[in-house]
Amino acid sequence: MQQENHFEWKHKDLLDVDTLSVEDVMHVFKTADQFHEINNRPVKKIPTLKGRSVILFFYEPSTRTKTSFDMAGKRLSADTFSLAKSGSALQKGESLKDTALTLQAMNPDIIVLRHSSSGAAQFLADRLPCSVINGGDGWHAHPTQALLDSFTLRQHWGDDFYGKEVLILGDIAHSRVVRSNVQLLSKLGVRVRLCAPRTLLPRGVESWNAKVFTRLEYAVEGVDAVMCLRLQLERQQAGLLPSLEEYSRTHCLTARHLELAQPNALVMHPGPMNRGLEIASDLADAPNSVILEQVSSGVAIRMALLFLFATRNDRHVDQGDA
Ligand code: NCD
Repeated sequence: MQQENHFEWKHKDLLDVDTLSVEDVMHVFKTADQFHEINNRPVKKIPTLKGRSVILFFYEPSTRTKTSFDMAGKRLSADTFSLAKSGSALQKGESLKDTALTLQAMNPDIIVLRHSSSGAAQFLADRLPCSVINGGDGWHAHPTQALLDSFTLRQHWGDDFYGKEVLILGDIAHSRVVRSNVQLLSKLGVRVRLCAPRTLLPRGVESWNAKVFTRLEYAVEGVDAVMCLRLQLERQQAGLLPSLEEYSRTHCLTARHLELAQPNALVMHPGPMNRGLEIASDLADAPNSVILEQVSSGVAIRMALLFLFATRNDRHVDQGDA
């Protein structure tokens, strides 16, 4: 695989996007471009990470993130090992720290962690010498989702995000996806709008780098893309919404709303979708929907991240030798 010369990947872990510079992000994208191309070939496996091991430690359910990390590792010939809460000793009451130390003793190169507690990835990263990639922690962060979302937008807009406007719509209060996306999109020069019923806006949202709306018809006006978020029914404290019918009547994205956006506005959703609740079903399948492109981007981005983290020490040695 062709490597960009002179770029040093300095990070041990990926906990959120705040620690990444724009140059880091562009380097991830350029690395992912090469893998994206490989993913479209008939034979998709390359030996780049042969002999490296990646543990997928998913304490919360996941379809896309876990499968795409697994596929990403396997396409690079790394050995991937999956561990879920059920079936692991965590279910017997073992602490996260003890489970992690046990996994570390097996000497993996990378642990990908999804956990219901905000800060869980940081907790492991502070204690383990291997790289830790945050696959989503509580409401806090989901950096790989934000990277794959911007990578998908880049396929349509090119490298120049400056001045584009993206609306993120839905359950802002309980979403880790929105928190990482606001940071990354604004870092890339995108103007971000947020829209939700007042009860689904988190405290302090005024200080985020985004313009906040409660009325969808105002929020959607003139935007270049709309990213719908899933209503996080499992994280809802009772009483935040009058009813699901009321929510979908006021905040479900429909074709009628999208007519107010730019003519070719893209429709996004990180999945899993509640069709008819946060996004009209026909819109999810419409030609300007890039929801399945997001899934494909996810494999390429996660290949790039596994590659950069698993080989970061090799490059130091190489550069030292040169
Ligand atoms: C998201 C997550 O888990 O935070 N899903 C994903 O990773 N594709 C969004 C969600 O669960 O709503």
